[in-house]
Amino acid sequence: SRPRPVTGEIHEDDEPEDETRIKVTIFFGTQTGTAEGFAKALAEEGKARYDNKVVFKVVDLDEYGADDQQYENKMKKEKIAFFTIATYGDGEPTDNAARFHNWLMAGVTERPDFLTGLTYAVFGLGNKQYEHFNKAGKQVDEALEKQGAKRLVPCGLGDDDQIIDDDFTAWKEMLFPALDGLMHNEEDGTAAAVSYKMAVPEYRVVIWESGTKVWDKPSAAERNGQAIYNLNHPCRVNVAVRRQLHTPQSDRSCTHCEFDIANTGLRYETGDHVGVYINNSQEAVEEAAKLLGVPLDTIFSLHADTKDGDVLGAGCGSLPPPFPGPLTLNTALSKFSDLLNSPRKGVFSALAVYASDPEEAEHLQFLASPQGKEEYQQWVIANQQSLLEVIGAFPSVKVPLGVFFAAVAPRLQPRFYSISSSPRFAPTRIHVTCALVYEPRPTGRIHHGVASTWIKVGFHLSLIHCYIKPLSNFRLPSNPMTPIVMIGPGTGLAPFRGFLQERAALQEAGETLGPAIFFFGCRSQYQDFIYEEELKGFVNKRVVELEVACSREGPQKVYVQHKMLDKASEIWRLISEGAYLYLCGDAKGMAKDVQRTLLTIIQSEGGVDNTEAEAIIKQLQLDGRYLRDIW
Ligand code: 2AM
Repeated sequence: SRPRPVTGEIHEDDEPEDETRIKVTIFFGTQTGTAEGFAKALAEEGKARYDNKVVFKVVDLDEYGADDQQYENKMKKEKIAFFTIATYGDGEPTDNAARFHNWLMAGVTERPDFLTGLTYAVFGLGNKQYEHFNKAGKQVDEALEKQGAKRLVPCGLGDDDQIIDDDFTAWKEMLFPALDGLMHNEEDGTAAAVSYKMAVPEYRVVIWESGTKVWDKPSAAERNGQAIYNLNHPCRVNVAVRRQLHTPQSDRSCTHCEFDIANTGLRYETGDHVGVYINNSQEAVEEAAKLLGVPLDTIFSLHADTKDGDVLGAGCGSLPPPFPGPLTLNTALSKFSDLLNSPRKGVFSALAVYASDPEEAEHLQFLASPQGKEEYQQWVIANQQSLLEVIGAFPSVKVPLGVFFAAVAPRLQPRFYSISSSPRFAPTRIHVTCALVYEPRPTGRIHHGVASTWIKVGFHLSLIHCYIKPLSNFRLPSNPMTPIVMIGPGTGLAPFRGFLQERAALQEAGETLGPAIFFFGCRSQYQDFIYEEELKGFVNKRVVELEVACSREGPQKVYVQHKMLDKASEIWRLISEGAYLYLCGDAKGMAKDVQRTLLTIIQSEGGVDNTEAEAIIKQLQLDGRYLRDIW
């Protein structure tokens, strides 16, 4: 490793530049090393993909230039640049990217059209739990464009709250086909000839005789007191209770279930999330098998190496480990394949390779290319086409199993639910409150939410596999006297039911409770006032004060935020007394509206302007007194 450059003196790379080869520079802004790792992985994959005909260079932004002048001189010469940019702290660039960031931002006004020779792509690393999600990455992405650079693919928005590697893979799946297109358009003749076939990752498939003993289920519950967190070792639990929470008048459905964790060693805390391993519907599984042209009882296994024991070549660095086997196609499709989400763009270049009709192949290729963006947006994304619908639209496509599981169907992910019980109340049970997803899609297909449908009807064996997601910060204050304000319409109620159970248990144990107010919302008390009796019981015991907003009972919608405005002075008083605020539920509409209402309340009751109100909210967040569990 080279010593860090002293100011004013930047070492040029030891290797002389090879002018005949196309150069791609990959810059990283990293704090904990993830963005750096991603930059290196990108370079490795690129090298393999273009057979070393393209030079990929990984660069620490701090070491790129000692001052603005050097950034300017060097950046001007770049032709293709990728950026992996992490956001740190409260929406800030990482330390190693800070100088570059300032230089680039200043360029928006100082140097318009400065970067017209540059084609670029940005992958941001952030965390959705934070207010300024991926702010630094987005800023870099926009500032480059404003200075005339050409954006190759949309800015990737990695979310570390989920599985950021998957986001990165999805972004690469857009990036590489777009880069292929760019290489083809390079006129100097030195571009690598890219074969799409080469770029499609593929597992080696071994087909087993019928009668082979198959992998069936993840291992039974472990009894060592440790929750286990990976795909192959979740905890197997019995579904002890399952009941409908809505009344027959409701045209929607919400299921209450209880997972029996007695003797499993699985532990949870109030406010935790449970990850549930789900299965696809048999209908979807059968359709997928038909499209693959392979019988459902085929027994096979997947391997990430070649027959000779080498690691597979181009583009395979990002292959997830193959799932356990041998198993039947039925099990593989049912447990491991995401069949109903819209396919990412990269899927189309994989499908193109296996279309026997040249017109279909061309069309698929087009959809995968940057030029096909419009059509992809319209036909796939706006129509919310499922993967199965897309494959079905190209009848000549026959994808081999090894490609299907590596490059076409993403791994089916566990679904996370806010646990709606407290271990103080239900030490051997995990309660889940799950609304059924049932939505007509623009194509006319009814989308049955994979998880919620399965939870409602699919527990044939009354067994599921689950684990507790670690490191929740959604907790009650340690002192039960501390006031709390909870806002959770619909299934946003879930963690608060756990909170109230816990408070009731504390009260029974002789603790004195501080004030608590819960804003709940439903359509009508006659349809979806879930857990009504229980909640009223908590009110009677003075565990909580309850405010219910019924949105569809009168001529006007009444939402939780309207009830909050009615209680504005009380909310403000509780905040002033050190209250914790909790918000749970829909992130897209409700959470934003509630946040605005909170600002209004702080402004009017606290007598401050908007900026000060925002600062107060931010401080509450920093102090861990304003916690959100939103989705
Ligand atoms: P609606 O369906 O009548 O619009 C739980 O789903 C409750 O949340 C419902 O009463 C629903 O009302 C309500 N809701 C929908 N959008 C909301 C928003 N933006 N803010 C607060 N509540 C909302």
